[in-house]
Amino acid sequence: MSSPATDEAGTLSLSDARAQLGERVTHLKPGERLDLTRHGKTVATVISPEELQLLNLAKDAAMKSTKVLMCFNHAGGASKSSTTRDLGYELTQLGQKVLLIDLDPQANLTSWLGLQNVQLSQTVNDALLNLTPLPEPLEAHGMSIIPSHIDLSETGELLGVKGNGDGRLEIALQKVRSAGIYDYILIDPPPALGKLTTSGARAADYLIVPLPAKYKGVEALGGVQRMVSEYSVLNPKLRVAFYVVTQMEKTRHASDVLSLYRQTLGDKVIGPISWRPKVYNECQPMGLPIGVMFPDDSARAEIQEIAHKLMEVVAAGVYA
Ligand SMILES: Nc1ncnc2c1ncn2[C@@H]1O[C@H](COP(=O)(O)OP(=O)(O)O)[C@@H](O)[C@H]1O
Ligand SMILES: [Mg+2]
Repeated sequence: MSSPATDEAGTLSLSDARAQLGERVTHLKPGERLDLTRHGKTVATVISPEELQLLNLAKDAAMKSTKVLMCFNHAGGASKSSTTRDLGYELTQLGQKVLLIDLDPQANLTSWLGLQNVQLSQTVNDALLNLTPLPEPLEAHGMSIIPSHIDLSETGELLGVKGNGDGRLEIALQKVRSAGIYDYILIDPPPALGKLTTSGARAADYLIVPLPAKYKGVEALGGVQRMVSEYSVLNPKLRVAFYVVTQMEKTRHASDVLSLYRQTLGDKVIGPISWRPKVYNECQPMGLPIGVMFPDDSARAEIQEIAHKLMEVVAAGVYA
């Protein structure tokens, strides 16, 4: 009888598998592995069911520990990109690992973080159209970012004719989530209801809804709530983390709007973030978050409060 083609390291040649596989796997213990080889190259690995369960648990834990959020209000000018930039930065300052994803072809978030001459290949484009893994992110002020490019508007249109077009970002992000690198992934969508925004809503665990303290914010609220319901059908795990009132001026009108939001949405309303054109206008051309440009300003303190609140909401698993 020929001697078995196995060795101490736990390998078994495929040519001997028919005769020996049953015997070898019966005695496989958790932590042990059996490499099946062909011409000396490992072609498959057998592990015990207990080991597989442990691996799946670890993967689930990594997936769960990364939270994906999207700032959502389909109205333009609601402060989505500003909030994503500053919240992202403050989360890093609280020790969180943050990945930003700019889905807006206008690429405001990208340029407001000082990133220029971005190539389409550095964006989500290939992951959405060709199902490739997401590209290596760029770095900005301690955050990782997958930037945007004007041609993403075409990408968004093409998703309409692709199978599962608006589910592809979620698939790409699952790989990132299971790597367990990031605590938070923040998505900045375009100011419109299209495939790119739906992609973000399908990939997200939470929405953060910025509401400007202006009549136009009140007008948009009904539509925002209807869209949240629609997205929840596509993505049943989706929750609103909170509504954050933005661009709060010191006017009677702004106070009335804030009261209306509080009456309608109760304690899901946080903020407000004050209207500070000087601060916002100066940060953008410098490519800096408020926390970097004005570290001691009360504008920053308002954002820091939102970042703390977000971490509390996520840790407690409570949401609107
Ligand atoms: N609190 C604020 N004070 C002053 N200007 C603001 C404030 N928040 C946002 N802005 C300005 O309002 C405009 C719209 O904000 P942005 O973040 O681009 O909104 P969105 O991404 O929802 O379209 C930007 O020019 C931004 O600088
Ligand atoms: Mg924007």
